[in-house]
Amino acid sequence: MALLSVQNVTMRFGGLLANDNISFDVPEGSIFAVIGPNGAGKTTLFNSIAGSLKPTSGKVVFDGQPITGLPQAAIASRGLIRTYQLVQLFKDLTVAENVEIGFHRVTRGGVGSALLRPRWFREQEESIARKARELLAFVGLGDQADMIADKLPYGRQRLLEVARALAAEPRLILLDEPAAGLNTQETAALADVIHRVNERGVTVLLIEHDMGLVMKVAQRIAVLDFGKKIAEGTPDEIRSHPDVLTAYLGGVEMADG
Ligand SMILES: Nc1ncnc2c1ncn2[C@@H]1O[C@H](COP(=O)(O)OP(=O)(O)OP(=O)(O)O)[C@@H](O)[C@H]1O
Ligand SMILES: [Mg+2]
Repeated sequence: MALLSVQNVTMRFGGLLANDNISFDVPEGSIFAVIGPNGAGKTTLFNSIAGSLKPTSGKVVFDGQPITGLPQAAIASRGLIRTYQLVQLFKDLTVAENVEIGFHRVTRGGVGSALLRPRWFREQEESIARKARELLAFVGLGDQADMIADKLPYGRQRLLEVARALAAEPRLILLDEPAAGLNTQETAALADVIHRVNERGVTVLLIEHDMGLVMKVAQRIAVLDFGKKIAEGTPDEIRSHPDVLTAYLGGVEMADG
């Protein structure tokens, strides 16, 4: 069954059709990638799915329910969590604290309980601190938990963003170019993390320019070009798709990483 169904989504900015009638289904439990040249409309599509933009027309269905145009927080609370193309961390907080913030969707208590600190609140905080460290170990940042986030090398900041997104216990995680700026070793670590996230039962929707990574992790790929979906298929189908080769790569054979 499709966990996410994108149905005829169109997003117009003035005269620009950033997304033109885009449809695809992301099967529950899969790793699905959206690729395409710069400006193809990939991030715009994520914005429409995750609720930071309301599409001009079309429908987004998550777990059988329409979510089109709902506020981002409402969509997140249903289990659809995204990361951003540009790292968005709390730079002055520690690595662990950045992950702890990600848990707030699934915890209770407000300012009152933070001041009074009843026992359940302290226990909740301890449990969050423990789970944050587990997630950091999971993405390979276990040794950097107490470092200030800003001091982490860039590639590791991206892994920290993934850990924070996982803290919200997503059913579907949207990753916008998680490998941007990563070296070969970091990209390999990221591929491993994506696989293990997926093995935990989380469906993954990934925007990525790194073709080696896409071909390695994705089961299905949709290709955007100038706002339109020009192809969809398995990595093998996409690798040899004539429209993809000309539009996306200018006719050059696609590397298989
Ligand atoms: N809020 C906006 N207002 C106006 N135009 C926008 C807005 N957001 C994106 N665009 C335009 O829409 C088009 C698609 O942009 P988008 O960021 O979705 O591309 P992308 O595929 O994510 O590209 P990249 O690979 O460079 O991240 C671009 O021409 C961009 O300038
Ligand atoms: Mg983008």
